[in-house]
Amino acid sequence: MTKRVAILISGGGSNMVSLAQSMRADHPARPVLVASNDPQAGGVAKARAMHIPTLAIDHKPFGKDRAGFEAALQMALETAQPDIICLAGFMRILTPAFTGQWEGRMLNIHPSLLPRYKGLHTHSRALEAGDSEHGCTVHEVTAALDDGPILGQARMPVLAGDTPETLAARLLPLEHVLYPAVLRRFADGDRTPVMLQG
Ligand code: GRF
Repeated sequence: MTKRVAILISGGGSNMVSLAQSMRADHPARPVLVASNDPQAGGVAKARAMHIPTLAIDHKPFGKDRAGFEAALQMALETAQPDIICLAGFMRILTPAFTGQWEGRMLNIHPSLLPRYKGLHTHSRALEAGDSEHGCTVHEVTAALDDGPILGQARMPVLAGDTPETLAARLLPLEHVLYPAVLRRFADGDRTPVMLQG
């Protein structure tokens, strides 16, 4: 049975594009929705161009009412009926009430080698720590931020002269390989971690 995948974005959506492009031929999943909390997100137009149903729910009118925003998001998801949700550059913190409904069915990609550097500014933190390697992690989403079971990691060396920008630019293509590889296994019911070396 083909798994239905909803992808949540906030920005350019390059990870969403990689995921959507991977779901074809004998892949066990297909994209059924791309939703963004920012109506101006570049990824929305990219999803439309790929003929994927899209929805933008601007979080700003909800102010601090996280539950209100999530109720609108949940309504859209109940229509799309996804089996799996992929957070791909989605920059909103989700409440435990929301993550609890989707636990075991929601993935996220985070630009660090978790458990190192949960939260923001991961590239500058890795540089400040003098790390010799950096990378990205795909994990299951739980109530705790950037903390769920790890489903895959891609590692790369930190080079002399690297800046947060050069790290991010070298890491993004690895994300575009890792996330689709993890999604394919996950959609097949296989939680064996995918480990890649960039
Ligand atoms: C990526 O670096 C990802 O690791 C982080 O946000 C960025 C989103 O990029 N979560 P994109 O929107 O997928 O291009």
